[in-house]
Amino acid sequence: MDYELLLAQAKALIENVPYRTANLANISALIIDSLEDVNWAGFYLLDGEKLVLDAFQGKPACVILPPGKGVCQQAIRENQSVNVPDVHLFPGHIACDCASRSELVLPIRKAGKPVAVLDIDSPIPNRFTETDQSYLEKLAHILETEIEF
Ligand code: SME
Repeated sequence: MDYELLLAQAKALIENVPYRTANLANISALIIDSLEDVNWAGFYLLDGEKLVLDAFQGKPACVILPPGKGVCQQAIRENQSVNVPDVHLFPGHIACDCASRSELVLPIRKAGKPVAVLDIDSPIPNRFTETDQSYLEKLAHILETEIEF
């Protein structure tokens, strides 16, 4: 996986494009197209305490993720990435696509506070390595600087 290329492509896609949904849709498409064994990639935006579905690629998903439950809300609560090797072992996991077996969620921050998450699911248990996490955190950082949340 050439993550340096992915980061360059992400930046090129969204640079100087002042449309958030278009940018998040293109980044979701880029992730699905570039990463192997990924069945869902997309964004949830914080609205008060709930997370609301935004642009994504994959099967239809839950629109609202209430506070206190699930992987995405944990990433918001802890303001850090959450890498779940086996979603069946994560208490309170919210299943949108029953094919998903592992999941990586990266917070997107404004002024240090989480405002959204990038959520990536895989049908393979233990799919996401520390290298995946560290490069996808860099991608989240590019989104923070290029997109108005
Ligand atoms: N699994 C997530 C919900 C979103 S779907 O995976 C697209 C969670 O537990 O927060």
